[in-house]
Amino acid sequence: MAAEQHEREHEQQDVEVERVRDDRVVPDNRVELDAPEPEELDPEELDPETRARRDAALRYVRRFGDPVLRATAVPVERFDEDLERELERMGELMHDALGIGLAATQLGVLHRTLVYRADPEDPVTALVNPVLEWHSEELESAEEGCLSLPGVHVEVERPARVRVRAQDASGGELSIEAEGLTARVIQHEIDHLDGILILDRIPRAERKQAMRAMREAQSQDAAPARKREAPAPDREPAREPEPANASGS
Ligand code: NI
Repeated sequence: MAAEQHEREHEQQDVEVERVRDDRVVPDNRVELDAPEPEELDPEELDPETRARRDAALRYVRRFGDPVLRATAVPVERFDEDLERELERMGELMHDALGIGLAATQLGVLHRTLVYRADPEDPVTALVNPVLEWHSEELESAEEGCLSLPGVHVEVERPARVRVRAQDASGGELSIEAEGLTARVIQHEIDHLDGILILDRIPRAERKQAMRAMREAQSQDAAPARKREAPAPDREPAREPEPANASGS
């Protein structure tokens, strides 16, 4: 692809990350994927600094209704410093948002890139151009959330084990075999790169319920969120979120 075209893409695509959250395998088989708003994570209970960082990171995450979440991301062809920065930023936003994974499309960037960290002890893994090469016949069901779908937690059935081919930040070939939460997060994020949301992976009746939960979460948000009518994160995201706008009220 021509360099010029690439430039244009870089300009059009703001970096986004999705937050998948840290490894939450709760006793009832509940896994919070990229959603940091489950009951167990009460924002009121976070220490103020963590909470502020999380809120700031979340401002960059596109939410349901934003058409970019339905777009198909394009393969990355240029492995350069911009890409490294993009991946680094995705990792940072994921971390700050208390997520365990994030896809570029969630930040409004149409690159086939994602980051994840299913175990808080692990380093963040970044995958470029991931392709699901193989998956087990065996399926597993667990609850997932999504940073782009506040308030939504639904049971999603997915292959229990996967093998994914991808590239790293410098273009090196990767082959990743994963199971459990890691397999789930990777599949969830690859879905994002194809414009697929967890709402598409559940029965219709549950989808209605999920939509309702999301509306409720959003209206709860509305009051304190006046302060969030912040810097259009959909444009060129600043290197650091702008706290000034965040606490306007
Ligand atoms: Ni998600």
